[in-house]
Amino acid sequence: MDSDRLGRWETRLAQIHSSALAEIEQAGDEKAIEAIRQRYLGRRGGELTLMLRSLGELPAELRPRAGQAANEIKNAIEEALETRAAGLADVARQRRLAAEAVDVTLPGWPIPAGHRHPISIVRAEIEDFFVSLGYDVVSGPETEYDYFNFEALNIPAEHPARDMHDSFYLGEGALLRTHTSPMQIRYMLAHAPGLPIRVVVPGRTYRRDDDATHSPMFHQVEGLVVGEGVSMGDLKGTLLALARAIFGENTAIRMRPSYFPFTEPSAEVDVTCTVCGGTGCRTCKGTGWLEVLGAGMVHPQVLRNGGYDPERVSGFAFGLGIERMAMLKYGIEDLRHFYVNDWRFLSQF
Ligand code: DAH
Repeated sequence: MDSDRLGRWETRLAQIHSSALAEIEQAGDEKAIEAIRQRYLGRRGGELTLMLRSLGELPAELRPRAGQAANEIKNAIEEALETRAAGLADVARQRRLAAEAVDVTLPGWPIPAGHRHPISIVRAEIEDFFVSLGYDVVSGPETEYDYFNFEALNIPAEHPARDMHDSFYLGEGALLRTHTSPMQIRYMLAHAPGLPIRVVVPGRTYRRDDDATHSPMFHQVEGLVVGEGVSMGDLKGTLLALARAIFGENTAIRMRPSYFPFTEPSAEVDVTCTVCGGTGCRTCKGTGWLEVLGAGMVHPQVLRNGGYDPERVSGFAFGLGIERMAMLKYGIEDLRHFYVNDWRFLSQF
């Protein structure tokens, strides 16, 4: 009789055990696990809880075994719940890691990097070339005295050459320098009678001009060499080497007689056309040549104004426009591109 009751008790426990395990197996998340825990082990109404509470209805001698059996099942269910919960947490963690995974073999995001302006690039190339020949690189004031900008360079008031310079006058004998040539005088005065002088002066210059090939602010590089026996041959060799450094090894130059008040003789210097290489095209108007700079032997009076004796020393000078060099080098037709700062233009250099 008693063994029957114990048998039924154990059968009921086995049913609870197997249905709990089946449900736990199916549980898909933390909430489902919690619901199962309540259904079987909840303080109020949990199926196993109710059985344990009814233990007192059994005959006293059966209670130890019945109780022990029930507790074993309770522990087994609790353990199954824990295992399942840990398993689910593990799956969730795996999914999260998979979602966060980084493929380090993918190409990176391009980071737009800044770089030098084309005017700065050409300026640096010109400077590097002259530094390699032992020249000093100096700069001078952009606000200049009439005396250094014109007078000391053999361009007195009323001289027709002043008309070509469309100056920005500031009053009191000052102006925005129209070229870098005034630094010839300043540099000579600062070094006379020291020899030799080998210097280039890059910098900003200003004229009242504004079109596709002229800007009110532009850049020049002045060159000045003074020494004993400096000749036109030295000038020509220097300019040929410069042209090849900037425009390529196959470049040739030619010098045409010209006039500048501060040089005698004076020359305009052409390079073989950067577009057609000298055969003749639209850019060089069929001549095969492009004018790039002015140059000449320093005028005796200019040497004197700089504190040097033209009977003892001679010199050559040249002046070039960086914008013009850059336009020819890169094939740019409108100088204003340099100053609009359109990223699409600038990023090509
Ligand atoms: N200063 C002249 C200009 O801006 C360029 C120039 C010509 C400079 C001949 C020189 C030179 O040093 O010898 O138009």
